[in-house]
Amino acid sequence: MDLASAQKAFISLVTSLEPQDRPEFLTWCKDYLLNDLSDSKAYFDLRTIAEDIKSLVPTEAIFPSEEINHSNIGNLPQTGNEPIIHVDSFLFEDDQIDALVEEGKLSRNYCKNCGSIDVRPITFISHSASVQRIEFIFQYMLPDLSGKVLLDVGSRLGAILYGAYYCSAASKIIGVEINQDLCTLQNHIIDKYNLRDRIQVICNNVCNLPEIVHDANVIILNNVFECFMPKETQKQIWIWLKNHTTSGTILITVPSMEETLSSLGTGIDISSWLRKIPITDPVAVLKMDDQDLLSEICSYVVI
Ligand SMILES: C[S@@+](CC[C@H](N)C(=O)[O-])C[C@H]1O[C@@H](n2cnc3c(N)ncnc32)[C@H](O)[C@@H]1O
Repeated sequence: MDLASAQKAFISLVTSLEPQDRPEFLTWCKDYLLNDLSDSKAYFDLRTIAEDIKSLVPTEAIFPSEEINHSNIGNLPQTGNEPIIHVDSFLFEDDQIDALVEEGKLSRNYCKNCGSIDVRPITFISHSASVQRIEFIFQYMLPDLSGKVLLDVGSRLGAILYGAYYCSAASKIIGVEINQDLCTLQNHIIDKYNLRDRIQVICNNVCNLPEIVHDANVIILNNVFECFMPKETQKQIWIWLKNHTTSGTILITVPSMEETLSSLGTGIDISSWLRKIPITDPVAVLKMDDQDLLSEICSYVVI
């Protein structure tokens, strides 16, 4: 069936319903479209790895060897006293977080004056991409990656790498991660799940790897430097990245490059470096409208 015939059939189906049943039917269609991936094999494989990693990392999925600085995050309350909890979105799905809250193991609020009902929400921060974000990137934001090289800058627990393995045909998937403990963890998972034929992890500062950046067809930059590098270093890395990316390479960024660079004073003219790729698939647009975490993802091609 071609598109025009499908549209005609759909309209005919909707108009054949009793008017009072139409809103419920359309809501059902939307829920059906938004939930389609949770039954996929890739989803199952990624959740299996996520459950495995939970037993290998501290509760907040941060190693003692890491130095994390939240003061660089632009949209956080900045009085310095608000509690922040790390809940890794790759390891914990929303419904699992809800269950922890219900069991009293996690709180969404903190009491400003002990014993009072004067409470404020606690800020939850994740340093990994969720399975939903990963599937969205590979299903709606990237073309067929057969024969292509994908690079995840700051690969952390490896979420994007495993996602690229199960959700794309990329022939080479490279993670660059500066922290040795995180690289050891990723290598353990890669070997355990036999992913070594396409995934490689390099323990290094990305700025020491110009050929890797130059040769990548897709580069993922998910909240990569903000909490992990001082502002001046971030500025230097972005200038370095601009000078080492190749024309035609796709960048997937969270947040947008405009937001990332707005407070760094890099002097980079984004419009002469990158062209934004609009999302046009109607299901993808629907998903982005529905979930805040998806609406933050942007894609660009290097000019
Ligand atoms: C927010 S995490 C990204 C996680 C992962 N890409 C994902 O989407 O699930 C950022 C990671 O980048 C690493 N990192 C920061 N600066 C780096 C640099 N210059 N070179 C390599 N890794 C870096 C940090 O150690 C941290 O693990």
